[in-house]
Amino acid sequence: MNPLDRRATSLRFIDQRLDILDQRLLPHEERWHRCDTPDELIGHIHSLAVRGAPLIGIAASLMVAQRALAGIPASQLLDELEALRASRPTAVNLMNYLDRLRPLLQQGADAAHIASCALAIFDQDQALCQAIGEAGLSVIPSASRVLTHCNTGSLATAGIGTALGIITLAHARGLKPNVWVDETRPLLQGSRLTAWELARADVPHRLICDNMAASLMAAGEVDLVLVGADRIAANGDTANKIGTYGLAVLAHHHKIPFYFAAPVTTIDPACPNGAAITIEQRQPDEVRGAKTAGGELLFSPPGTAVSNPAFDVTPASLISAWITDRGVHRQASELPVGDPY
Ligand code: MRU
Repeated sequence: MNPLDRRATSLRFIDQRLDILDQRLLPHEERWHRCDTPDELIGHIHSLAVRGAPLIGIAASLMVAQRALAGIPASQLLDELEALRASRPTAVNLMNYLDRLRPLLQQGADAAHIASCALAIFDQDQALCQAIGEAGLSVIPSASRVLTHCNTGSLATAGIGTALGIITLAHARGLKPNVWVDETRPLLQGSRLTAWELARADVPHRLICDNMAASLMAAGEVDLVLVGADRIAANGDTANKIGTYGLAVLAHHHKIPFYFAAPVTTIDPACPNGAAITIEQRQPDEVRGAKTAGGELLFSPPGTAVSNPAFDVTPASLISAWITDRGVHRQASELPVGDPY
């Protein structure tokens, strides 16, 4: 294998070219797209063909590497980097990773150096996922019923994933987790992607609509909630897929532990609290209906007014612990600060 090549479940960097798996088409079709330009990748990030906090940052970094290796001049690369950095506003991994590459471009580093830094970002994410998985095993009692939301697995990272990585590792280690998969409206990352990943890993799971979690908790059917994160503020307030905050309120009411799992690259020490996190607003049609293989299906009258925030913020007071690559942190003050990599 060429030492510059990298492969993950939903992304490949082979012969200095980036390909992405179109996550919009899963679980029915596995179609890969070659990304020749930053604009193409930005389009795929906007449409969520490429999604998940770590993955969008890794894909953007590899695009910068691809362009550097193709001989694009540094001044143009810097403009492209800024456009990639602005492609989604909430997940901080995207900004963190590109901020590592920017000084190299400013200093006129050669293409090989820029590429090796981008590849290190990919490799680091794999290692961080594995470390999160190992750390998270301590919060998963044997045979526990774990509720998760959105998709936080190998599709969303370069490695085994974050929250879902813990679950699949727990399964592999014989802990027999049983997973409640929140469907995750409006774009169904739970039912389309998490159910696909859990089936491939042979982990027992059942799909539920988002509005079923409360009654399952009341019936004593949920032992813990484990989700991923897009940005963790300095005070511990944590942004993740819309619906997460509601689950945290429900878990608190039912005295069920509620955990976030994320790499240190998701922590934003410069962001004081949740109110300072920018929440992405998405297109109204995502809520009015759904895209299907046969086209667009509208559930509501065309033109119905819509609010479509893609993320929400869970206050630190509702969080039992954050699981990072450095361990299980029960207080926000214990969160690792800064990116030492
Ligand atoms: O809009 P998405 O699908 O990119 O949102 C993804 C999430 O909210 C995930 O929970 C988060 O990015 C963590 S992925 C390891």
